[in-house]
Amino acid sequence: MDRDTPETIGALPVARTVAALRRRIDAWRRAGESVVLVPTMGALHAGHLALVAHGRALASRCVASIFVNPSQFAPQEDFSRYPRDEAGDAAKLAGARCDLLYAPDAAQMYPGGFSTTVTVGAVAEGLCGRFRPGHFAGVATVVAKLLLQSGADIACFGEKDYQQLQVIRRVARDLDIPVRIEGVPTVREPDGLALSSRNLYLSPPEREAAPALQRVLAATALDIGRGAEIAQALAAGRAALARAGFARLDYLEACDAETLAPLARADRPGRLLAAAWLGRTRLIDNLPLPPRAA
Ligand code: PAF
Repeated sequence: MDRDTPETIGALPVARTVAALRRRIDAWRRAGESVVLVPTMGALHAGHLALVAHGRALASRCVASIFVNPSQFAPQEDFSRYPRDEAGDAAKLAGARCDLLYAPDAAQMYPGGFSTTVTVGAVAEGLCGRFRPGHFAGVATVVAKLLLQSGADIACFGEKDYQQLQVIRRVARDLDIPVRIEGVPTVREPDGLALSSRNLYLSPPEREAAPALQRVLAATALDIGRGAEIAQALAAGRAALARAGFARLDYLEACDAETLAPLARADRPGRLLAAAWLGRTRLIDNLPLPPRAA
């Protein structure tokens, strides 16, 4: 079959090429419809489906993309073992009333001769940017491509990857990409663990320890909200994470919610962000910081 020919998996139409994606979207546009894009790397869980539900409430057509983007993984990271289940994901998207799956392959996204990278300044440099060099350039490049390929009116991203969300907002603003970027609240397990495709890697004892990340963030946010000195509250939070079994902590930081610079002013919205390891699995999470006394 010609790769530009419409294809379906179960009930869900699939586009494998930019041409096929644009053909569908152009037809919707001619009918006066609006389009929301939900970019993903597959291994879909309830957090992704919440993005689709959020998107569906904002636009008449919803496109989800699945592309495990090699350029955002460092050589020692989990690109090859990243969970992949296209048929299962397509069934979930169809059930969530998504209208189209865009599932390009690497040759479609990075054809021979590809040599452009979107690098983002300060907002991408601290936090995860310090521990995963090149990661946000990979994210920014692929997301800029997905936004331009689809021409979506709105694109939805989870607040779970809060730094990624702020990086993408910066990219859309700086490159004048005419899209509204929507942040969608984190979906959690009943015990507080943020949903993530990487939770599948946790052993049973690691899974039991994992919700402590959210608990420590909540306790630290409460301390800061009650007026504790930020540096002291963070030190207490770091110690609590170590006691809870996170043998390696990349960071626990209080940041300006937009720029992600260290939080200096009480009158600015803040965000508390952490990345910590259980065995070979790196977990990230974040919470808003309540207003503080000036
Ligand atoms: O959050 C993700 O799943 C990915 O980083 C994204 C935004 C789809 C880009 O590859």
